[in-house]
Amino acid sequence: MAKEITTIGVMTSGGDAPGMNAAIRAVARACAYYNVKCIGFYRGFQGMIDGDYCVMNARSVRNTISRGGTILKSARSEEFRTPEGRKKAAAHLKEIGVDAMVLIGGDGTFRGGEIFSKEYDIPVIGVPGTIDNDIAGTNYTIGYDTALNTVVDAIDKIRDTASSHDRLFFIEVMGRDAGFIALNSGVGAGAEEILIPEEDLGLDRLLESLKRSKRSGKSSSIVVVSEGDKIGKNVYELADYVTENLPDYDVRVTVLGHMQRGGSPSCFDRTLASRLCVKAVELLLDGEKNVMVGLLGNKIETTSFEKGLQEGHEINKELLRISDILST
Ligand code: F6P
Repeated sequence: MAKEITTIGVMTSGGDAPGMNAAIRAVARACAYYNVKCIGFYRGFQGMIDGDYCVMNARSVRNTISRGGTILKSARSEEFRTPEGRKKAAAHLKEIGVDAMVLIGGDGTFRGGEIFSKEYDIPVIGVPGTIDNDIAGTNYTIGYDTALNTVVDAIDKIRDTASSHDRLFFIEVMGRDAGFIALNSGVGAGAEEILIPEEDLGLDRLLESLKRSKRSGKSSSIVVVSEGDKIGKNVYELADYVTENLPDYDVRVTVLGHMQRGGSPSCFDRTLASRLCVKAVELLLDGEKNVMVGLLGNKIETTSFEKGLQEGHEINKELLRISDILST
């Protein structure tokens, strides 16, 4: 007989993402709707270890759906990687009376949650919140759509000055070891080249492509580089290499950095966060545990942590082909 769930905890962990507040809001409001207490832990797993929490009700999350960042703050907890840290967390959950957890974060969050849940028999549901979109078990992670639009807007602005000065820009974007942000924003912004970790096309091909762009009459070009790209040079070294080998190019570099993690979440991310987290609360109340929720097709589905963490999230290589054609 599954333990009755009367109090659900929620936390945000790992790199923050736009839409995390919409997710927290949905957990708090769904708990209020189902007459279940809601506890918000600050700074991810560390807040569970430190007993750093707040009691949340439907009004605690008013006017938060449009806010970037996370009102519960986020962190990566080294202490939670230790049995002692997890033991402290379990003791605090017991003391406060938390019966189950909604964990909003990336793959590291899910890994930690799965270990914790098995050690202490505390049901957890994972909600994919990261701009990287690198989690199997969902077509989209919370924050990814907003990050894409932030990047495309930045590239559009850079293209204005690139074309004014006949320059080639290398623009580095986030994504850790995945190229989803680079690939989709590159196509969306009409980049001439897109370099992603999943497909190392090599330096010679890059030079050849840039020469072809020049021959076709392009006076400026944009190359979007995923931070995890494996071409063997960081974005500054890449710029130097191209400058040495294509001297008639005037090259500049922009690293977009953490601005990709901020901003008011898009409607898509707000809606995704709301759907995933209402489902997460309902799953816990139905006795479910140790799964992640995700959007597959247009349905909210569950995937075991084991499956969700094992499979890589396939990059859409069709987009690379399209990008090649459209950058003619
Ligand atoms: O995982 C999200 C992410 O933004 C990655 O894209 C990036 O590499 C990393 O976090 C940056 O981590 P930090 O915020 O700790 O610098």
